[in-house]
Amino acid sequence: MSATRSLQFDVRDVGLAGQGKQRIDWAEREMPVLRLIRERFAVEKPLNGIKLLACAHITTETANLARALQAGGAEAVLIASNPLSTQDDVAASLVSDWGIPVYAIKGESTETYNRHLRTALDYRPDIVIDDGSDVVATLIKERAAQVKELIGSTEETTTGIQRLEAMQAAGVLSFPSIAVNNAQTKHFFDNRYGTGQSTLDGIIRATNILLAGRNFVVAGYGWCGKGVALRARGMGANVIVTEIDPIKAVEAVMDGFRVMPIAEAAALGDIFVTVTGNRHVIDGLHFERMKDSAIVCNSGHFDLELNLVALREMSHPPLNIRPFVEEYKIKASGRRIIVLGEGRLINLAAAEGHPASVMDMSFANQALSVEYLVKHKGELEPGVHVLPREVDTEIASLKLRALGLSIDTLTAEQVEYISRWETGT
Ligand SMILES: NC(=O)c1ccc[n+]([C@@H]2O[C@H](COP(=O)([O-])OP(=O)(O)OC[C@H]3O[C@@H](n4cnc5c(N)ncnc54)[C@H](O)[C@@H]3O)[C@@H](O)[C@H]2O)c1
Repeated sequence: MSATRSLQFDVRDVGLAGQGKQRIDWAEREMPVLRLIRERFAVEKPLNGIKLLACAHITTETANLARALQAGGAEAVLIASNPLSTQDDVAASLVSDWGIPVYAIKGESTETYNRHLRTALDYRPDIVIDDGSDVVATLIKERAAQVKELIGSTEETTTGIQRLEAMQAAGVLSFPSIAVNNAQTKHFFDNRYGTGQSTLDGIIRATNILLAGRNFVVAGYGWCGKGVALRARGMGANVIVTEIDPIKAVEAVMDGFRVMPIAEAAALGDIFVTVTGNRHVIDGLHFERMKDSAIVCNSGHFDLELNLVALREMSHPPLNIRPFVEEYKIKASGRRIIVLGEGRLINLAAAEGHPASVMDMSFANQALSVEYLVKHKGELEPGVHVLPREVDTEIASLKLRALGLSIDTLTAEQVEYISRWETGT
């Protein structure tokens, strides 16, 4: 516990560190790419003297990212990117075993979340790792002078990148930000297979329901939606997809799913999951049409995909049935709507988020993005950037090697063929 002596932090109970450390080590076994980066960082110290604020889900995988950044020489402070996703034992271990200041408590109020964010900003970071762009938005809105101290930021998720692009369009993004989510080794795997599996894990842990034979509605057929739909079908559910993008809708049809507007799906669904990054995708008029005991949850970044304000207004006060399960009885019809995880990301609220094996690649991208920002300090234009393609390819190559797999390489004849235009029919 010596590491905690002079450290400022706000976690539930430092006494939980033992269990947290064991779980962090367990996740590390599934994160070989991040381990290789950590080992290189420990030798090269590319982040020496860098103050870093990481706003992330405080999970075992994030702890391993923090270890890698610390090995690289960074002084990191961590805050939760969501009030319900913190693993209190992990937060305790980071403080106690690694001496990293953490401000995160599972179930913290919005006021505490905001206080933690501002306390962490008082560390005056050189680099921000953001998840949803709350830190960057707060900096821009409230601390214009401090923005000038920033080397840059990285952004983990789709919703955060949408917000950064809006900031760029509004002319207020005055530093470079790396869109980690846009790396192929991030969204192909994390958003699709990570969200696909862990969303079902969250629903099942919260309810213990059988998915086989149920009508399972997925709102949004982007990277996350594709994963959720694929895995729900694998569990025997009848999947219905709702979309607003005609191309994604055709894709869902050709992948073998029923596609219809949410107003129609509302009456058919037994279970609903939103993964759109959009607001009020399930609204009051949809709740009205749902069957008795329909289960509704969200796996998109913010808790506004379900219009719970409307649901509260049309219902009696909710009953807490079991952890992460609330029942709303609609006054007009007497029908019950079951809301999971208060409409927050269900995979992190009721389960443990993505498995470490996919976070390995997402967080390899985070670590390399931070290194890239430091290496190119002062050289990058303000705005949203993606990591060079070679970095993506390198991460995938390391992952393949870790999986014990090898692939073919182009022969000299093939290199020659694909670089020329003369040969045809
Ligand atoms: N739960 C997690 O752990 C996790 C992981 C990664 C991303 N996310 C979040 O999940 C959300 C989706 O991410 P993504 O990478 O799949 O994004 P994406 O852009 O690939 O997909 C979103 C899809 O939703 C559709 N959509 C938008 N509004 C809609 C509406 N009203 N009805 C139906 N469909 C609508 C869009 O057309 C798009 O196809 C984001 O908020 C992202 O930040 C969550």
